[in-house]
Amino acid sequence: MNPRQPDRHGPADPRAAEAPPISRREFFAGAGVAALLGPEGEAAVADGTPEQVHLTWGADPSRSVVVSWASPAQSINPRVVLQAPGHDAALVHAVQRTYTDGMNGQTVFTYHAPLADLAPGESYRYSVTADNDARRHAPFAGGFRTAALGRFAFRWTSYGDLATPVTSWALSSPQSRHAVDAVERFEPLFHLLNGDLCYANMNPTAQPVVWADFGNNVQRSAARRPWMPCPGNHEIEFGNGEHGLDAYLTRYSLPDNGTRYPGRWYSFRVGSALFVSLAADDVIYQDSGAFHAGPGPLLPAPSTGRAPIEPGTSIYLRGYSGGEQTRWLEATLAAARRDTGIDWIIVQMHQDALSSSRDGNGCDKGIRETWLPLFDRYGVDLVLCGHDHDYERSWPVRGCRHDAGRDAASGAPVDTCQPLPVATSEPPGGVFDTRLGTIHLILGGGGTSAPLRTYGSNPATGAPQAKVITRPNRPLPGAVPGVFIKSGADALEEAVWSARRDSVSGYGIAVFDLDPGAARGRTSITMRYYHATGAEPAPAAAYQLFDTLIIAKDRRDA
Ligand SMILES: [Fe+2]
Ligand SMILES: [Fe+2]
Repeated sequence: MNPRQPDRHGPADPRAAEAPPISRREFFAGAGVAALLGPEGEAAVADGTPEQVHLTWGADPSRSVVVSWASPAQSINPRVVLQAPGHDAALVHAVQRTYTDGMNGQTVFTYHAPLADLAPGESYRYSVTADNDARRHAPFAGGFRTAALGRFAFRWTSYGDLATPVTSWALSSPQSRHAVDAVERFEPLFHLLNGDLCYANMNPTAQPVVWADFGNNVQRSAARRPWMPCPGNHEIEFGNGEHGLDAYLTRYSLPDNGTRYPGRWYSFRVGSALFVSLAADDVIYQDSGAFHAGPGPLLPAPSTGRAPIEPGTSIYLRGYSGGEQTRWLEATLAAARRDTGIDWIIVQMHQDALSSSRDGNGCDKGIRETWLPLFDRYGVDLVLCGHDHDYERSWPVRGCRHDAGRDAASGAPVDTCQPLPVATSEPPGGVFDTRLGTIHLILGGGGTSAPLRTYGSNPATGAPQAKVITRPNRPLPGAVPGVFIKSGADALEEAVWSARRDSVSGYGIAVFDLDPGAARGRTSITMRYYHATGAEPAPAAAYQLFDTLIIAKDRRDA
């Protein structure tokens, strides 16, 4: 790997520089709030100390960034103090968003301070505080850099499926701490987090606590550079809104999409690249959100007043936007293709159209039939996913075959919309031209306790083979009375589109360097995938280079 120098923003966790202890008298005097008397006559006040601090881009990454955080209880006068070089500090008040978890009854308080009218390509410092911040004398401090204007060179990183380092939570692993450190070592301008953030829905009686452990783990990176997420199936939670996404939507302030579904999908532009973040649960066939198998009901805390969740209940979101997301996607891609300042289109989503994982989920035909034709029509260059906890790179693909799949059980023909590769070997010079086809990357090796590095193969030929989900796998009664099961992928196809698979490690990070090129010349993106060898079974901090992909094309102003 290529670790960089520590960046200009100071120590990884600014709060590591401890403030002197604050006396209770000082705390209440500074808080400016009425102290309540408890049964022993002791004072008690809501704790508005910021935690889980993270950044996201605003509508224009060269001009706007949002600082978001949570606090254990309601904050009083939550605010950011922004410091630009050579300028007076500016005070920005934060907006509160809350929700009450429908399973354990905990109310979660989050705060969002939009920083607007920033200077392009500039470094900023900021601090986050509130009147009832226990550390208000030395508040949490972070920093960030805005995107430059026009075409410029920049780096971003990506993975999905992170979880938390707290091993008492289902699917959490200490590797998620190393994964956050890996982002910091590569110092990207921003990071794409491809869904399945913390698996709170696998811990249904403690969802807000899992989110807090996730937020405090990513803070040492996400408070220093935007982390841009997309929702995964494990962000869909019982008790939290019509689509189970209230926890996710409350915590993240994301660019507006102008539809009835803010926060689920969005786009933003950095330099000559348009990034499009999608919510694939809207189009996939797979039922993979919150699910209670049984036996016996799942019981929300009595304070919620909610009914028990019966065995066999799942939250299935396919089609929830009524096509609104796909219409937004087509309009967004069409506008990008009319803009000769945009050379590259990068899509982020959680679930996979091309994955030959043997023990994971596999491919979803819903993405293939709904969105791949749009990726073809408008020339999407890269699709970055997670969901299967491994690394796989596809050949460039365009179009599909409708007669290449078969039912996994009966062998009968099934239309899997098998993507067609436009190349099946490394090109001369090792440089791909994605004008000919879209390359899909599975980057699901964030930091869960369930890494996967096993891939399907045709038992007769040994050639790569993939599972495909072509119909809903809703819960069905299983062999054990009162216990429900969901079946896996229903179809198989030859994975003629699979170019590279990592069988060594199920953990890694992709690092992308965009070279804008010279006027009327060529532009390129170099992707280097680093994996954590030796991370199983013990966590490992070191990440080594496994795969390099270079894509290049003429600039669109050429
Ligand atoms: Fe996952
Ligand atoms: Fe997933």
